[in-house]
Amino acid sequence: MPSITIIGEDEKKFDLPKGSSLTELDHVLIFGCRMAACGACAVEIISGANHLSAMQIEERKFLEDIGIANGPYRLACQCKVFGDVSLKQC
Ligand code: FES
Repeated sequence: MPSITIIGEDEKKFDLPKGSSLTELDHVLIFGCRMAACGACAVEIISGANHLSAMQIEERKFLEDIGIANGPYRLACQCKVFGDVSLKQC
């Protein structure tokens, strides 16, 4: 079962079933539209980016529009997890 580590003032760990959406962590991460349109859920992936679902065109377009498409950033509302990931909310 993938382990998700959220790095902040303190570090929190959650186990999610393989293939779960990061929206399952809406009690600890901030979400808005959940449609790759608002950016409220932007996260910096510290490790395990290869354990997230591939970026789809809507997410890439949003990240390009705000100028962070080439960094370690994802929209958590668009990510499913398939292995251990560490991240930080932007
Ligand atoms: S919640 Fe709006 S882009 Fe993810």
